[in-house]
Amino acid sequence: MQRMFTGLQPSGALHIGNYFGALKPFVELSKEYESFLMIADYHALTSLKEPAELRANIVNVAKDYVAAGIDPAKAVIFKQSDVPEHTELAWVFECLVTVPFLMQAHAYKDKVAKGLEANAGLFAYPMLMAADILLYDTDVVPVGQDQRQHIEYAREAAAKFNNAFGETFQEPKERILETVAVVPGTDGKKMSKSYGNTIPLFGTKDEITKAVMSIVTDSDGERPENVHAIHRAFKTESELASLYEANTKNYKAIKEALIEDIESLTAPMREKRDSISDADAKAILQNGAERARVFASAKMKHVRDKIGISI
Ligand code: ADP
Ligand code: TRP
Repeated sequence: MQRMFTGLQPSGALHIGNYFGALKPFVELSKEYESFLMIADYHALTSLKEPAELRANIVNVAKDYVAAGIDPAKAVIFKQSDVPEHTELAWVFECLVTVPFLMQAHAYKDKVAKGLEANAGLFAYPMLMAADILLYDTDVVPVGQDQRQHIEYAREAAAKFNNAFGETFQEPKERILETVAVVPGTDGKKMSKSYGNTIPLFGTKDEITKAVMSIVTDSDGERPENVHAIHRAFKTESELASLYEANTKNYKAIKEALIEDIESLTAPMREKRDSISDADAKAILQNGAERARVFASAKMKHVRDKIGISI
């Protein structure tokens, strides 16, 4: 069986972009693959410096995964910091790649372009992510479009290591759900926690309604493009065509239809999520960490031998 690995930062409440870009493909693929799902808490530390918030987010994300349909008895759900081999291997990769190479990374470049100072963790971010993926001899990484470059970095890290020390890592492939590769937010830009334009995946019906009603509608066109673009994640083009034609200019009816579509996806998940306690979530993560470490420690032992630090 081939292996699949993905990660999500515990940096805030999940939104429907995360669902279609990362969670849904993962749930579907996890039927065919041996699956690993990691909460990237050390990646989150590059931007989040609120311990109480981070702690709550980690527990919440674990619940979200399970509520979204991932079976913790099958998939290994764990948190990055529970498996120290990740940061250890990241260091090894950082010693193999050059500064100009890392300067090409989008997250770093965007920060600098905004005139902000990037911390060294953000700069090295792609190497920690490479370590996440490569420790598990991953075949496939389901992610949203914005993570494509990071998977290329992981392949580069694997190739550089193999070149320097002999064949050790296999090069992973990304798996991007093309039809809804990027779900736009309420303002038409990419839906993202950091833009405040999200529709929450586990929001109440009121919260979902409020978010949908706030979608910016362009007044001149025949149909509200922003609403349509989000709706495309839920329905096919032909399913939407009749709805949008029947309600030309009736933006309220169209938004109400979108709310119903979001509700029918999220209401059952919300119910399941409410039944998972904090203690359940922590037990799932502890069990996941134990299972992940079996793989990570074996791989890292091999790496230590190869690079010459085990004597
Ligand atoms: P955010 O942009 O809200 O901070 P993350 O960067 O934590 O989201 O992304 C987590 C996962 O969800 C990644 O695999 C990412 O590609 C995917 N993702 C995030 N936003 C979207 C979106 N708008 N459309 C599709 N996938 C997305
Ligand atoms: N960088 C990813 C994001 O922001 C999260 C992540 C960390 C990840 N490690 C990973 C995704 C390994 C896939 C594989 O969405």
